[in-house]
Amino acid sequence: MQPLKGLILSGGKGTRLRPITHTSAKQLVPVANKPVLFYGIDAMAKAGIAEIGINIAPETGEEIKEVAGDGSAFGVKITYILQDEPAGLAHAVLTAEPFLGDSPFVMYLGDNLLQGGIIDLVTAFKANEPDALILLTPVPDPEHFGVAELDGDRVVALAEKPPEPKTNLALVGVYMFMPLIHDAARAIEPSARGELEITDAIQHLVDTGRRVEPHIVQGWWKDTGRLDDMLEANRLVLDRMEHRVEGELVESAIEGRVVIEEGATLTRATVRGPAIIGAGAVLTDCYIGPYTAIGEGCAVENAEVEHSILLAGSTVRGLDGRMESSLLGRNVHISRSDQQPRAFRFMVGDNSEITIL
Ligand code: DAU
Repeated sequence: MQPLKGLILSGGKGTRLRPITHTSAKQLVPVANKPVLFYGIDAMAKAGIAEIGINIAPETGEEIKEVAGDGSAFGVKITYILQDEPAGLAHAVLTAEPFLGDSPFVMYLGDNLLQGGIIDLVTAFKANEPDALILLTPVPDPEHFGVAELDGDRVVALAEKPPEPKTNLALVGVYMFMPLIHDAARAIEPSARGELEITDAIQHLVDTGRRVEPHIVQGWWKDTGRLDDMLEANRLVLDRMEHRVEGELVESAIEGRVVIEEGATLTRATVRGPAIIGAGAVLTDCYIGPYTAIGEGCAVENAEVEHSILLAGSTVRGLDGRMESSLLGRNVHISRSDQQPRAFRFMVGDNSEITIL
């Protein structure tokens, strides 16, 4: 088999999904202090894929280019491919055809995260040489995904977000294809939602007697923009992180597996892992509990933070109680003053949510 190329889809609608980012590229939302898009690039690099095309949209493409660069930071070569309109995943494949040529390739949806990487899948693809290899995982809400029906280890039918799914097996956003997929993408018509669906292109392969191999995976996460999903993605990644302490510790205690990036300063702080503390963060007289990601340049002082995500530049100071299961965007400041009478004072952006327990 020819060397595999990589295709990462980071175009799409460019709608702002959530209050926590002022960026419109959902693929740049950080998980354990790293943009979700980077997990796909990393997974491909680790699987030996040297040439990666990233599909971008006109609205958010520049921002993605700026963050991911030419790929040298990952040891790969990145080519950016502009898709003029979000006309569907199969349309994105066709847009990338000049880059992909007649290479077999791995397609990774830029807002998906697959724990454990893709090395095993690439190995299986190379060994079995099916026309397509798809990843599936059981989900409680299959109507929100592409759904597959199997007969033993053969894929027999696929449907994109069916109102009444026949199985609970959702298509995970990582696919492997032989170049034949281009013809399949050309053969299909836009779906009811007006997109050229990759699900329909794969169904076309099945209908024309081609071999589509299913792989069931665990540890998958899909960006949906809800707080609970963000916290879950964070847990998924923090659970597997390797312990690494590069910051400066003064009278501080570390328990369990943590990452403390270079330039972070901890003074009389306790960090109980799994947790990550970003570069330049300043933690003083505080407790950071399990499943917390403190972003670059954040400050936590006289406070307790657990099972939470703080994006870069945020600060939490002087809280009486423990902050938990929370998500702070960039440069958010939370503090408590000693002033009387006691009151709440908020300045909060659009679509935010505050709960006082
Ligand atoms: O996440 C898994 C699901 O992804 C699968 O179960 C579905 O079968 C598959 O169709 C897809 O569903 P979504 O409707 O959730 O896809 P979404 O529109 O969110 O696009 C996925 C990624 O691809 C996202 O990073 C944006 C990018 N994209 C999307 C479109 C429609 C493009 O780059 N170009 C496009 O035209």
